[in-house]
Amino acid sequence: MTNKIDPCTLVLFGASGNLARVKLYPGLFRLDLLGRLPDDLKIIGVGRQIVDLDAWRADIKSMLDTKFKKGYDQAVFERFIARNFYHANPPTDPDAFSKLKATLSDESVFPQNLAYFLSVRPVDFAPVVESLANVGLTQEDKYWRRVVIEKPFGTDLPSAKTLQAAITKHLKESQIYRIDHYLGKSALQNILLQRFTNTVLEPIWNNQYIDHVQITNTEMLGVGDRTQFYDSTGALRDMLQSHILQTLALTAMEQPKDLTPEGVRDAKIKLLEEIRPIPVSELEKHAFRAQYAAGNINGEQVPGYLDELGNKDSVVETYAALKLFIDNPRWKGVPFYIRTAKRLHEADTRISIRFKKAPLQINDQDQNWLIIGIQPRECIKLEVQSKIPGLDIQTRTIQLDAANRWESDDSVDAYEALLLNLMQGDNSNYLHISEAEAQWRLVDPVVKAWAEDKRPVHQYPAGSRDPLESKVIFEAEDQFWRYSIELGGDK
Ligand SMILES: NC(=O)c1ccc[n+]([C@@H]2O[C@H](COP(=O)([O-])OP(=O)(O)OC[C@H]3O[C@@H](n4cnc5c(N)ncnc54)[C@H](OP(=O)(O)O)[C@@H]3O)[C@@H](O)[C@H]2O)c1
Repeated sequence: MTNKIDPCTLVLFGASGNLARVKLYPGLFRLDLLGRLPDDLKIIGVGRQIVDLDAWRADIKSMLDTKFKKGYDQAVFERFIARNFYHANPPTDPDAFSKLKATLSDESVFPQNLAYFLSVRPVDFAPVVESLANVGLTQEDKYWRRVVIEKPFGTDLPSAKTLQAAITKHLKESQIYRIDHYLGKSALQNILLQRFTNTVLEPIWNNQYIDHVQITNTEMLGVGDRTQFYDSTGALRDMLQSHILQTLALTAMEQPKDLTPEGVRDAKIKLLEEIRPIPVSELEKHAFRAQYAAGNINGEQVPGYLDELGNKDSVVETYAALKLFIDNPRWKGVPFYIRTAKRLHEADTRISIRFKKAPLQINDQDQNWLIIGIQPRECIKLEVQSKIPGLDIQTRTIQLDAANRWESDDSVDAYEALLLNLMQGDNSNYLHISEAEAQWRLVDPVVKAWAEDKRPVHQYPAGSRDPLESKVIFEAEDQFWRYSIELGGDK
């Protein structure tokens, strides 16, 4: 399905920042290469430095040269570069936004539907919206006005509510596009399609057949040069609160009434609001945190988190695991284990579903697992029991393993998909405020309890598997962390 795009102007705040350079300009150029940008789309970068148009266009060329090392189509490049303009917004200029309005009012250059992408620091989201509104640039009369708010939308529930209150003074919910870039990934969008376009999955997708679900994101990388940012955020807020809870929502939600943005978002909101609050009085049975210590990654010795940070007292987690229950008839009694970690032995994002014991038990056989790989491999794997050929009655586990992505498929970056959705007016892959709030409501008590607990945090050597102590959150003795490839996992 493709949606029509109205003529529009994309106004990109933070145009010379990291995200714009690495993702947004290359993403827009790729969309142009694919013929997906409307002919009359214009892009105006807004930054705080004063830069003339030729220098700005040369800078965009350098962003593209860095990204597309093998070169690119010159005719498309000429077309793309001609779409681009620049507006300087020095913080010292009280008239900067009036000047922006004056520039944009030239209808012969700029289509009047306006999409603002706020690729600025989170503290600047509300002031930029306010400044746009003050000069009348958020008002929808004849033309639409949309505003993309980058991640994170607040750092806890109160700050998310404060940001929401500030921007809804000027914007309707339908104008606000909150980013969780995971939702732009084809592999995430596939969860919904794979679940509901196959007859075989839906009948077994419930507590009658499913023992538990694991949603995992592990990295081999450490925090790198983001130590200060990371120490003010932690794994729980950085990954679980957003990307992993969205993955859970898509995995567990009911079938949307239709595939409209409202249909999909209503189903996700309902699911997120049905997750049972984590009982802080029994936190150690529901949540586990740890930090990586020095260790070995791919044969290379790497330092531990506290050494990198230069602060032995930090209790901020680089490993976070939660056990969640969903209070609805489909999932009653089924634990969902979600976890994320840096410097583990493998880098993998996946959904692993273990089914209940089969009625016939031949030997000490494993239960069926269904694994949906998100990255690096986009795949679906089903493990089933099968007789070992020969004279004896014995079974072994075999895998039905299929790639969701073929080599010939387009590889589209999440930001490309999201930018296209923005221009199409399709916000189904952006967060509704109710989703952002439900996610903060769930994790806030854990973040707070962990921050207040200053006891030394469990350590795991870089390059190792999950800390053994993390198993404390499992509901049943026979549950174990499922890894990506190997059969049977690490029991
Ligand atoms: N980078 C990523 O991969 C990534 C990933 C996830 C989320 N995000 C989010 O995306 C946003 C941008 O991140 P970033 O890494 O690109 O940050 P960044 O490198 O610090 O860039 C922010 C840019 O915003 C500009 N800016 C600030 N106020 C402005 C204003 N009033 N008008 C116009 N420009 C203004 C800054 O200009 P000066 O250079 O002149 O100060 C700077 O170039 C943040 O909210 C971040 O949380 C980024």
